Amino acid sequence: MEPKHKLDEQSGVFAGFAPPFKSFATEAIHVGQEPEQWTSRAVVPPISLSTTFKQCEPGKTAGYEYSRSGNPTRDCLEKAVAALDGAKYCIALASGLAATVTITHMLKTGDGIVCMDDVYGGTNRYFQRVACELGLEVSFADCTKTELLKAALKANTKLVWIETPTNPMMKVVDIKACSDLVHKHNKDIVVVVDNTFMSAYFQRPLALGADVCMYSATKYMNGHSDVVMGLASMNRNDLYERLKFLQNALGAIPSPFDCFLCNRGLKTLHLRMEQHFKNAMAVAKFLEANPRVERVIFPGLRSHPQHEVMKRQCSGCPGMITFYIKGKLEHATTFLKNLKLFAIAESLGGYESLAEHPAIMTHASVPEKERNVLGISDTLIRLSVGLEDEADIIKDLEQALAAALSCPQRKP
Ligand SMILES: Cc1ncc(COP(=O)(O)O)c(C=O)c1O
Repeated sequence: MEPKHKLDEQSGVFAGFAPPFKSFATEAIHVGQEPEQWTSRAVVPPISLSTTFKQCEPGKTAGYEYSRSGNPTRDCLEKAVAALDGAKYCIALASGLAATVTITHMLKTGDGIVCMDDVYGGTNRYFQRVACELGLEVSFADCTKTELLKAALKANTKLVWIETPTNPMMKVVDIKACSDLVHKHNKDIVVVVDNTFMSAYFQRPLALGADVCMYSATKYMNGHSDVVMGLASMNRNDLYERLKFLQNALGAIPSPFDCFLCNRGLKTLHLRMEQHFKNAMAVAKFLEANPRVERVIFPGLRSHPQHEVMKRQCSGCPGMITFYIKGKLEHATTFLKNLKLFAIAESLGGYESLAEHPAIMTHASVPEKERNVLGISDTLIRLSVGLEDEADIIKDLEQALAAALSCPQRKP
């Protein structure tokens, strides 16, 4: 029998989505955490702060030599994440962007990158303002239309960067269709999927043909808004060898304490994601019916243009919702200022609800012209729906909408 989501019968929100990954919770709790690996038999992996490790004779180590190249606490985390991504390997990095930079360092001057047109603002900024200056050729394509991706591939393309759902427009890319197309063009092109919004619980890009699955673990994977970290998982031995080398050679590694926290966060990932989905679905339906709201973009809604792709390739939706409030910039800012339970803050994926204004906050680094093309307008608002009680979340949104727009037109 296929595994079922625990909340399926209660809420029905998972109906039609792919089944959850088998033994996910068991693996999150046990893989890489074996007490037998420590002489103390510690059930919870210790935080290994030592920067250096004693060698019994020069060059003869017990598995570790220097904490940048390898650390026991980091190992526990990397093994757990690899299992959750259905991968052979994982490397942990200092931030999501450090993961992006480390992966991009596999390229040489003159190589080409094709990037999804709507991505996290910092990814866009890194590719356009740093990678380009180093002699990499970067172009952007809307990968929801495979013909546009196909047209963007060139003889020098070495890396295709996909984010799905995208930040902040929530466009959903068919990972399998894109990976197949890219690998048919040239099997050596590395397809990377930024899986930050989905977490390992809802989407496995490697099983859909991608070569690397990366995260800003700062978000759902850690889930408690108290760690900045990046992760990258892969199956190919050659990619692992190169990226493991770069993890040490570039040195953008996370601290053992952060590895401990993220490893702990993973233990409740399945529970958190199911509740994020349930709360987000309730919010999305509330917003869609609200006369003060122009349009809601949430892949769990039937109105989302790629709802069918989402159901096919994912086992649920995270708590990310964007919507256009009616009116102008002043209505968007009044709405945000009146929120009481939601904090106006960047970032996402923690247990607490957050709201932000992409054009002013997270995506201010995207040139205005590009923001306009993408739809990142003055009235666009992004929510990271947290794990509070559903009724309280909705009550807060309702009062802030009412404060922002006192005389709405009725929805037809
Ligand atoms: C989708 C996505 N990818 C990458 C990043 C960058 O991650 P970090 O902030 O951990 O460097 C972010 C940060 O917001 C993000 O939202």
